[in-house]
Amino acid sequence: MNIIKLNAIDSTNSYIKKLANEIALDSYTVVVAKHQTKGRGQLGTSWLSENGKNLTFSILIKFNDFKVENQFYLSMAVSLGVLASINKGISSPLKIKWPNDILSGNHKVAGILIENVLSGNFIKQSVIGIGLNVHQQVFSKSIGNVTSLKNISGNDYNMDDLLENLVQTIKFYVNYVEKKEFKKLKKIYLQSLFNYQKPTTFENNKRELFIGKIVDICKSGRILVELANKKTCKFDLKEIKFAS
Ligand code: BTN
Repeated sequence: MNIIKLNAIDSTNSYIKKLANEIALDSYTVVVAKHQTKGRGQLGTSWLSENGKNLTFSILIKFNDFKVENQFYLSMAVSLGVLASINKGISSPLKIKWPNDILSGNHKVAGILIENVLSGNFIKQSVIGIGLNVHQQVFSKSIGNVTSLKNISGNDYNMDDLLENLVQTIKFYVNYVEKKEFKKLKKIYLQSLFNYQKPTTFENNKRELFIGKIVDICKSGRILVELANKKTCKFDLKEIKFAS
């Protein structure tokens, strides 16, 4: 594993993207930083992490034949890789909150930010950014329901071993994408999905609450929600969130 270790950087995603423009990097090059000054989350949010306590890293993956229309399968694969890697040694299994947060109960342990470089209808390379809360035990209330592996299991972790295992397990699941085994990926993803087929309170972008249950995931990554009147609606990440 080709790994670049940094003490501090703005964002490991930004750093590896810039580096990949300047020099040829091998697929599965990893950049890990003890501290990010501008860690980025989904939908323009920030990713906050206590200096040195957690894992904040990015993996560069190169593809030869990966169509943009299949991009959500990569998100599934990465979520499953993170989940399988950190589930070891934890008694009550973690779940994936759609689209790709990792949850313990209703507390977030890890977040994933995927940024793709396209060429026509193909994804040539992806930067997979992962923030995993490992040893941090106290979190600001303003960031919502968040926890860490240490809070869940009581254990201390060797950060190098944890990182190595995460990258290898993600690679294992990304191989499903490379082999176009999309059906298999989706099946495992749905089995690991938080509140799949369960009545759930959602909030739409007009801040209205409603109850529905996730019954499927579309190829585009949108969720298919069955409403109380049995009608189904598709939503993307900008249109709906789980009510807190
Ligand atoms: C989210 O849940 O909103 C996604 C969070 C992704 C955070 C990671 S930390 C390492 C990498 N570098 C970044 O700037 N963001 C990702």
